[in-house]
Amino acid sequence: MAEREEAIARFKERRFGLFVHWGLYAAASRNEWMRHYERTPDAAYQHYFEHFDPDLYDPREWAASAEDAGMQYAVLTTKHHEGFCLWDSELTDYKAPNTPCGRDLVAPFVEAFRERGLGVGFYHSLIDWHHPHFPIDGLHPLRDDPAALAANDQRDISVYRAYLHGQVRELLTRYGQIDTMWLDFSYTDHVHDGTVVWGGKGAGDWGTAELLAAVRELQPSILVNDRSGLPGDFVTPEQYQPSGPMERDGAPVLWEACQTLNGSWGYHRDNRDFKSVGLLLRMLVDTVSKDGNLLLNVGPTGRGEFDAVALDTLRGIGAWMRRHARSIHGAGPSAYVPPPDCRYTQRGDRLYLHLFAWPFDAVHLPGLADRVVYAQFLHDASEVAREVTDPDDKHAYATSAAGQPPGTLTLNLPTRPPEVEIPVIELFLAPD
Ligand code: GLC
Repeated sequence: MAEREEAIARFKERRFGLFVHWGLYAAASRNEWMRHYERTPDAAYQHYFEHFDPDLYDPREWAASAEDAGMQYAVLTTKHHEGFCLWDSELTDYKAPNTPCGRDLVAPFVEAFRERGLGVGFYHSLIDWHHPHFPIDGLHPLRDDPAALAANDQRDISVYRAYLHGQVRELLTRYGQIDTMWLDFSYTDHVHDGTVVWGGKGAGDWGTAELLAAVRELQPSILVNDRSGLPGDFVTPEQYQPSGPMERDGAPVLWEACQTLNGSWGYHRDNRDFKSVGLLLRMLVDTVSKDGNLLLNVGPTGRGEFDAVALDTLRGIGAWMRRHARSIHGAGPSAYVPPPDCRYTQRGDRLYLHLFAWPFDAVHLPGLADRVVYAQFLHDASEVAREVTDPDDKHAYATSAAGQPPGTLTLNLPTRPPEVEIPVIELFLAPD
């Protein structure tokens, strides 16, 4: 139990992680769901297997980029829906060692991130579009293939289930301590493109109860996500920003938002819909202010590198994080209510005011008049002047403002914002 609580504390402390979606779809370069969208049969997808040769793969570079960006853990797709395995599984031939790449790609990843003290998690797809015993359903690439459908009843999910469990066992016994297990996903009653997916699969198909028991037995401190058809340890809002701390049955729940750089998880060469560094940082701050984590994705190329935009974006995030990580790592929500266009995060007696828009001259902080003993900009530790105006002064005149409501702390600001993506003011709170 203590171990689990420590794992939860570690997970929350880290706050910001790297998601890596990497597989054969990097070569197709048009989204990891490409087989689904294009109804690609195995034979046509085989090119990517035969040409998979990530000669520039150096996970130490990935880990360096992640750490410089202020990320404290990483989650790698060991297998995505396409079914291709990045590690040297004994249970399939459909794996990286059998491509021109010729090696296990998971081991060096795990080593590189651990070397820097970063946490490691695995994303593992429950869905498998390659396994011959995975029954065809409304998401499957062969869903409209008459010959494949005619033989669908020969597919035996129990054979696939044993394979799934065996592979998860391999992953959780070969690579040391794994912090999070991301199983993806269940889709009974799932609406996709406006219709309920036929043949949807869930906990019964995956054998989730048994699978989760094995996962916890093999890795007692692992945290599991919520997509295997039974509740897990944390929930996973995907490609949207929750509007407040997340809850399950009215109780607060651990959460980790996952977000892309451009809407695609796998490398997508022609998708230029990139989020700016500023937007991503606002998403990170907003997430932490609501007690969540952010898992930000990069889809490496078929050569095994992060592309130029991803690298620039991570560098930009890192430039801010270098000076502002204090307001993120180990920080969480505050009971104080921020003024408009601002977010608070709090860590013990430090309250961090993030200004998403720059106000003129002053910012007014309700409820903080007697609570703050010192205030400074976080990026350069320069003092920010504090003032408590007379609440009884009700009249604004030509050149003088009226007083603020009782209990309001006013901070006096320079006209020009500091040259950082999001200015942050660090408020030192008086002891209670
Ligand atoms: C989704 C998608 C997917 C992506 C993921 C990340 O459910 O199927 O391609 O891996 O979740 O959250």
